[in-house]
Amino acid sequence: MLELHKVDINDIKKRINELRASIAENNRRYYVESAPVISDYEFDMLMNELAALEKAHPELVTPDSPTQKVGSDLRREFDQYPHRYPMLSLGNTYDMSEVEAFADRAVRSLGTSFTFCCELKFDGTAICLTYRDGKLFRALTRGDGTVGDDVTENVRHISNIPQELHGTGFPAEFEIRGEIYMPYKAFDRLNEERLRDEDQPFANPRNAASGSLKLINPREVSHRGLECTLYHVLGENLPFATHEEALEAAAGWGLPVSDKRRICRDISGIEEYINYWDTARKALPFATDGIVIKVNELAYQKELGYTAKFPRWAVAYKFKAEQALTRLLSIDYQVGRTGAVTPVANLEPVLLSGTTVKRASLHNSDQMQALDIRIGDYVYVEKGGEIIPKITGVELSRRGPDTEIPVFPEKCPDCGTPLVRDEGEARFFCPNTDGCPTQIKGKLVHFISRKAMNVIAGDATIDQLFNLGYVKTPADLYSLTREQLLSLEGWKDRSAARFLDSLDASRKTEFGHVLFALGIRYVGETTAKSLAHHFKDIDTLMAADRETLLSVEDIGEVIADSILEYFSKPAHREEVERLKKAGLRFSEDQGPETISSALEGLTFVITGNFSISRDEIKKMISGNGGKNSSSVSGRTSYLLAGEKPGPEKIRKAGSLGIEIIGEDRFREMISEKGGQAGNIDGNPSDDNAVQLSLF
Ligand code: IVH
Repeated sequence: MLELHKVDINDIKKRINELRASIAENNRRYYVESAPVISDYEFDMLMNELAALEKAHPELVTPDSPTQKVGSDLRREFDQYPHRYPMLSLGNTYDMSEVEAFADRAVRSLGTSFTFCCELKFDGTAICLTYRDGKLFRALTRGDGTVGDDVTENVRHISNIPQELHGTGFPAEFEIRGEIYMPYKAFDRLNEERLRDEDQPFANPRNAASGSLKLINPREVSHRGLECTLYHVLGENLPFATHEEALEAAAGWGLPVSDKRRICRDISGIEEYINYWDTARKALPFATDGIVIKVNELAYQKELGYTAKFPRWAVAYKFKAEQALTRLLSIDYQVGRTGAVTPVANLEPVLLSGTTVKRASLHNSDQMQALDIRIGDYVYVEKGGEIIPKITGVELSRRGPDTEIPVFPEKCPDCGTPLVRDEGEARFFCPNTDGCPTQIKGKLVHFISRKAMNVIAGDATIDQLFNLGYVKTPADLYSLTREQLLSLEGWKDRSAARFLDSLDASRKTEFGHVLFALGIRYVGETTAKSLAHHFKDIDTLMAADRETLLSVEDIGEVIADSILEYFSKPAHREEVERLKKAGLRFSEDQGPETISSALEGLTFVITGNFSISRDEIKKMISGNGGKNSSSVSGRTSYLLAGEKPGPEKIRKAGSLGIEIIGEDRFREMISEKGGQAGNIDGNPSDDNAVQLSLF
């Protein structure tokens, strides 16, 4: 008996460890990489299993168990600040009876009459905004719940978040929390663009929102179409009796608050709200994944308080991922610009999460076999934790007598070359890289795309230029004549001039983008940038051996081999030479980051006003090899203080023993070490500046 018990406990410990490891890994994929591999439902089931085991064996609960803390989205690239109030998650359930239990508990604990506020649960990424004197002061992500990433600059590029509040009567300082999300339309547009550029598409709007919020270049954020809805006001001595009043006031100050909330008196009102939105949400232009039920009176919220992870005054009822059943009409086999052949299902149109779905990915032939899918079958489509939408199953009970087993083609549907499948690759490829028309056109379209050479032209132009035999490789674009362009259908002087101007302007495109534009398999935008940064010019990159390539951060074997294979082809080297002759940039400039190394190894935090703008000061720091940081920490070398410095930063620098310097001393410091103490973007006043202005 004793023996048996021992075995049991060990098994339970083992399972608990497995669950914790799996939850930690899935949390990392969700929060840090914005690319989950399991659905929310599957994740919640792992958490439930762990919570149940820990409940039965409280002695096995550890403080670092994921049941005791929220997942973390902290990233190295951002400064971090502590949350004034911990940023917690919500207890959630898929079960109406647990919502009833929540309401009963609140009734029993409070023993008096009160109301609930029911709201949509927006499916995005949590944000905490601080407004000081009516101005947006700081935006932090949830982070690990205690400390968040400072994404203020990015949030300033989200159009419905006001930089300044309207009206009067707002507290001198308060926080307001909410969700940043990407409406379906913006999401579809972004993924189309990413697929075209052969970037990994985002799995769902939520990941697209969190990935976009953490873009390193804040200006990029404005193109992403993010939106925000705010749902929780916090602060000291706020003049509100209820949550509803606080939201009403926030809306009056111009803050984006949802008008879909309802005050309910009891569980039947809550149920009605849930049932209504379970259907009505499908017509919303953005994703929601449930309903949040909150005790409305702030005094009662306070009375109920918090557990380590959740408020006791609120709960989330989650909807299961939406599925739709529809008929598979046919399968297309599409050739991408790298030759990958993807089976795409044509479906009888069906409404799913706000959009009509007509096509869904079947990924590859293994997936088709695993599903045992037949043309004419009724299939389930879902927008889940993967590229969207996907076919998740076949309804075998509805399989008719004349369904047909699909046959994956053996030859390229475009050029007829036999397809190949490399070891470890799930996809089939057309190996006729430089001769398959779809691949050639796909490569040209990629070459001119916005993140590559940014030439203003569409797929139709490329089609025409290719069909007329004017353009076969990107270099041909640069020898197009006005006469040739005027021979294209519908082209006039103006369109030809615009296209030629745009081609001309593309000659200034930075090396990293040019490298991306070449369309080397597996070399996406980020990889191209890091290659450009590392090798500085194309000749050094082309001469690099496998080992050298592997020594570059983030370059693994697959990418290294693909680069080697690309440059091993004489036609590709020739193409690079032709593009060089056409005037494209194949080396990295001495950007402002590299004009001097006078401040190398030093990290500066700046505060207050200077004789030039703060941005210019920041450029001087990075231009002379130093690092900018927005918060004072043990890693700060100097606090550079101008007029009216922030008292908090001064205090913190003082307490950490960090030297505080003024603008004059700062300029001296650069000059002493031979750096450039003048305005980096200003008029050329010395050799360095002249060199910069050339680019
Ligand atoms: S209230 C103390 N209201 O869902 C917790 N959260 O799964 C206050 N969310 O962390 C949160 N819509 O990021 C609240 N109307 C809503 C919400 C909402 C979405 C998010 C939020 C929260 C998560 C919990």
